[in-house]
Amino acid sequence: MAKPRVFLSRELPPDVMRVLRERCDLTANLEDRVLSKAELIAATTGMDGLLCLLTDTIDAEVLDIQPRLKVVSNYAVGFNNVDVAAATARGIPICNTPGVLTETTADFAWTLMMAIARRVVEADRYTREGRFTQWEPMLLLGTDVYGKTLGLVGAGRIGQAMARRARGFSMRVLYSDIYDPPADIVDELQMEKVSLEDLLRQSDYVSLHAPFTEETRHLIGAPQLAMMKPGAYLINSARGPLVDEAALVEALKNKRIAGAGLDVYEHEPKLAPGLIDLNNAVLAPHTASASLETRTKMGMLAVDNLMAVLEGKRAPHTVNPEVYG
Ligand code: GLV
Ligand code: GLV
Repeated sequence: MAKPRVFLSRELPPDVMRVLRERCDLTANLEDRVLSKAELIAATTGMDGLLCLLTDTIDAEVLDIQPRLKVVSNYAVGFNNVDVAAATARGIPICNTPGVLTETTADFAWTLMMAIARRVVEADRYTREGRFTQWEPMLLLGTDVYGKTLGLVGAGRIGQAMARRARGFSMRVLYSDIYDPPADIVDELQMEKVSLEDLLRQSDYVSLHAPFTEETRHLIGAPQLAMMKPGAYLINSARGPLVDEAALVEALKNKRIAGAGLDVYEHEPKLAPGLIDLNNAVLAPHTASASLETRTKMGMLAVDNLMAVLEGKRAPHTVNPEVYG
């Protein structure tokens, strides 16, 4: 039987490339850049499957020109880059990679929290600049993490993984979400459900773990930042548009809050004006899930999703399962 024709929009870790080449008739973008929409449409035309990234916009225009396309497998847990309604209307399953990146992403959100609280990036810069000439009692004083209150906006898999880490730091854990984790997990992790307002007022660290949808755009804007404690920190490893980034820059500039640890940006890869000038922000280039192990697992899961549909089965993770009828 002929192997299905698949387009991959950007190179993935070596083990994933090997499996893809074994299992499909693969065409891949091996240039180290995001394709333009026109390039993506042209490359996908005539393909049975598309394996794409969160930097690819998959909308009705892209889908309409694809008579053969049977599946879009997104190499990410977030799928806000895909117009799911348009795909559903065309009967195309959209797949994602939940679960495999949970711990790696939580590790990184935790890293951002520690890094901003203890001023690790500033300390590194200071040391490299040759400014460390003696121990000083007031040098680079930060804020404790241990024993503080962590507020999780979103208590899905990654939020729960944060709560688990917080146990080891003797933290009080608050969460706000429209869904609740299973009762035994809430019990085990001693997570307290509160309103978003109460969470913002009480937390020393506010960490975002919600998906980006039209409802969650600017979940954290100027009014929410104003509710936070002056000594509090905001951590965002979820999606940039959850935060009104211009309002955040203002709040950081005016020391309305103590600092921020960011992995994602409202208009990434662009940063809001003024953000790079602030010492009270630690900035990463959307690398929370970037360990070789996890990026390989995400790739394998994306391939499993893709191949299942191409073999006439249900994919392990479909965000619009109603297409299976
Ligand atoms: C990464 O940002 C993802 O959604 O997997
Ligand atoms: C990620 O896997 C999440 O849903 O939090």
